Amino acid sequence: MSQATPALQANDACWCGSGRKYKRCHKGREGRVTKGRVSPMRSVPSSIARPPYADSGRPPRRGEDDVKSAEVIARMRRAGAAAAEILRRAGEIVAPGVTTEEIDVFVHDLTIELGGYPSTLNYHGYPKSLCTSVNEVICHGIPDSRALQDGDIVNLDVTIYLDGVHGDTNATFCVGDVDQPSQDLIACAERSMWRGIEAVRPGRPLSDIGRAIEQEAHAARFGVVRAFVGHGIGEQFHNDIQVLHYYDERETKVMRPGMTFTIEPMINAGAWQHKMAFDDGWTAVTADGKRSAQFEHTILVTEAGCDVLTGGPGAVSPSAPWRR
Ligand code: MF3
Ligand code: CO
Ligand code: CO
Repeated sequence: MSQATPALQANDACWCGSGRKYKRCHKGREGRVTKGRVSPMRSVPSSIARPPYADSGRPPRRGEDDVKSAEVIARMRRAGAAAAEILRRAGEIVAPGVTTEEIDVFVHDLTIELGGYPSTLNYHGYPKSLCTSVNEVICHGIPDSRALQDGDIVNLDVTIYLDGVHGDTNATFCVGDVDQPSQDLIACAERSMWRGIEAVRPGRPLSDIGRAIEQEAHAARFGVVRAFVGHGIGEQFHNDIQVLHYYDERETKVMRPGMTFTIEPMINAGAWQHKMAFDDGWTAVTADGKRSAQFEHTILVTEAGCDVLTGGPGAVSPSAPWRR
């Protein structure tokens, strides 16, 4: 095959006509997710119970018991099942050409239909009803007018506030035909999450979870994000419990039956480091521009081990080769 025109070089004028050198203009952003338009915040009918931050954007800082009562746990099972159902149904509409905003509208409306409030909406000012993190976006991507493209991967992170408690779950989906390395990354992220879940045992330190996740990810030579961690959850969206996805011996808090928290490892194809993008204060991307995948469940520690509150019949089973 002959080549009619040589490839654009770093010092050539950019293809976009800006007159700037390619390397000073579009080069660094090529193959990267672009930001679309973010529509105005949507509203939630007044008949739906709202979390305390819904109007101010500021969650009140008050403690929450690590160990939940049976009554709170019963409510968390319902919130968890609802979150699982929303995630599963949102995953079904992922396709080339669908905008992340359209998925947001779908999730917003379905959450309300199930009687809940989309926990992310106005949480610390976050403007949408779920997070949509495409390709190299690690987490907290804001739904916008960008259409998903064939070959993209997208994480949908769904949280519902129902009956006074939160349920939080996410999964990474393929858009059309996705290359094998990305499929391998997604499969590893899901396996890592399950390794973490399997490490949940009463009497053991929380650090067992990160150790199990890290082992799985490092075996595949992937990076484990350190800046964002799992969290205690219940009547508050994020409470004082932290669940690291890497091993840290200082994480000595012991797991007790009745504790509820999330496990949500973010696994990078390359380096673990992140940077912030788009100047929106939310979107975190990989520092090296390589892809990142994530899965999340809300977990209850039991006498026997754990229950997956966002699992069960409504939960996502990814529609691809990594199905367990
Ligand atoms: N659902 C995310 C989590 O797993 C939190 C999103 S907070 C937001 O913890 F403000 F970014 F939406
Ligand atoms: Co979470
Ligand atoms: Co989440």
